[in-house]
Amino acid sequence: MTEEKNFRSHYCEDLSTNNLGETVTVSGWVHRRRDHGGVIFIDLRDTSGLLQLVFDPANKELFIEAENIRSEYVLSVTGSIRNRPEGTINPDMATGEVELLAETGTVLNASLTPPFHHDESANEDTRLRYRYLDLRRENMSDNLKLRHRIIKSLRNFLDDRSFLEIETPILTKATPEGARDYLVPSRTQQGDFFALPQSPQLFKQLLMMSGFDKYYQIARCFRDEDLRADRQPEFTQLDVEMAFVNQDQVKRIMEDMIQNLFKEVLDFKLEKEFPQISYEECMKRFGSDRPHLGIDMELIDVGDLMKDVEFKVFSQPANDEDSRVACLVLKNKPDISRKQIDDYTEFVSNYGAKGLAYIRVNAIKEGVKGMQSPILKFLDEDCISSLTDRLSIEDGDTVFFGADKAETVNASLGALREKLATDFDLIESGWHPLWVTDFPMFHWEPKEKRWVSEHHPFTSPLNDDPQDLIANPKSAISLGYDMVLNGNEIGGGSIRIHSQEMQSAVFKTLGISPEEASEKFGFFLEALKYGCPPHGGIAFGIDRIVMLMTESTSIRDVIAFPKTQTASCLLTDAPSQAGKGQLKELGISIKSKK
Ligand code: AMO
Ligand code: AMP
Repeated sequence: MTEEKNFRSHYCEDLSTNNLGETVTVSGWVHRRRDHGGVIFIDLRDTSGLLQLVFDPANKELFIEAENIRSEYVLSVTGSIRNRPEGTINPDMATGEVELLAETGTVLNASLTPPFHHDESANEDTRLRYRYLDLRRENMSDNLKLRHRIIKSLRNFLDDRSFLEIETPILTKATPEGARDYLVPSRTQQGDFFALPQSPQLFKQLLMMSGFDKYYQIARCFRDEDLRADRQPEFTQLDVEMAFVNQDQVKRIMEDMIQNLFKEVLDFKLEKEFPQISYEECMKRFGSDRPHLGIDMELIDVGDLMKDVEFKVFSQPANDEDSRVACLVLKNKPDISRKQIDDYTEFVSNYGAKGLAYIRVNAIKEGVKGMQSPILKFLDEDCISSLTDRLSIEDGDTVFFGADKAETVNASLGALREKLATDFDLIESGWHPLWVTDFPMFHWEPKEKRWVSEHHPFTSPLNDDPQDLIANPKSAISLGYDMVLNGNEIGGGSIRIHSQEMQSAVFKTLGISPEEASEKFGFFLEALKYGCPPHGGIAFGIDRIVMLMTESTSIRDVIAFPKTQTASCLLTDAPSQAGKGQLKELGISIKSKK
């Protein structure tokens, strides 16, 4: 029987001048190999970092072995730690003052030549196809290490405050969070399907009804929706629920938790109380319900000045109550080019804007003559002078206009505000959190011709009269709240409905018949009849928080094995076809594959 090997006495980065003369064993991957006139240097990499190994030709047998070693081979090497010679100290390397003179060593495994090297930027498809190699890169492994610390900080905080972590089912019934469900066919009940949870929403509410006062879960959620840089079909929430609480209590404790997280993980002190801005005010000032507060630029309404102007593009929306005429002023950028303005016009068209009128101000004291714009000819002098006063225009400024249905103006100028701030480097550094509150309960879905919930159908309205809600769905305000950080919605929640009458009124407004409600959520409606405590909660998008805290540009960079834009996994090639036998057992036949 061979003796089991002892692979390691130290991690690479544990070694320093404190270990001079010691014999140590390290194991890891060949990060880099250099042949320097008879001496071979290998930077060995393990989870802690790098250490330089030296293979001297005097140790002939070992040297011959080292000559055959290539990148990403796995080695275990024993030797003594010594100072690097004068002039060869590497200040960029944590272990840059020392090196290990190899005495014995073993190649534990060879490696094919990797399709990309750790510090080259390969294209994302290749990185995802060989994700295990991609994760060897320092930046990627640092992201996952920070992710671990973030989750640990959140768990500790909640644990210290008597929250209980409880798991909820993955094979379940549909939860209406607004996306499509992922379905799983049942074998035992052919023709029936489980849905994967879009969130644990109903289960956490049931846990409140069961008497668990404070719940949380690091929960996997599944949503079949259009993917973007901040969305994955399978993502992780920190899901929280509390009984006998009001909105302020939920917000305060969650604010504390996020402050504690930033202090522990980034040593950053967030402001004491996050600002709270209503949905309506957010839309008016920023055109967005997830505004970046580090951008000092707001939408300014000018519809009242445009009611009687010749320019129909402005006067029509100025006289329509569902529309809006608003401006953004880009301060003091006299060099902005026509080409840039054309590009911004193209940019806002992605948000439905039909154009982007603008005024460039060269010399304000020359009045209209000192301005450049295709629309000045349509505006009289009074209008222009009121406009320049309201917008406090100065030389070098550019004014952009949005005129359309309010939704279109908000979406386009809201996005333009962030785009201008990014392009002209106008975003104040640091962290800018806020709560967005007082959301409408519902918004009208013109295609489906029905009201849909702004949050989800279990969100309580501010006004607790069910008849009032049915009569005035448009003006109903919810007890929902989102936490927004630097232009990203990182969390959302609400105080929940805890009476069956109100829950029925909401379903009625949403056009869900009592039969449909009973079929979809009968178990939940029944539970509401057995003594449900008032309760509320929130869920945070962990992936988004990690993305922001690691300064990554995509949530894919903070998820070990993410999916592509088309919701597939390039590593495992999922989704893939099921075998005939499996399909037969499930009672499923595939018509044809597209
Ligand atoms: P909501 O749908 O707002 O609320 O989700 C909560 C948070 O989860 C994150 N998130 C996502 N992250 C990555 N990929 C996605 N596809 C994705 N979708 C959402 C966001 C969001 O703020 N049950 C409610 C919460 C509650 O009411 O308590 C819910 O799921 O950061
Ligand atoms: P037009 O008369 O259509 O050439 O438009 C004159 C200017 O108004 C151009 O700069 C257009 O980009 C701009 N414009 C057109 N429609 C809108 C709109 N809905 N909102 C803002 N600007 C617009």
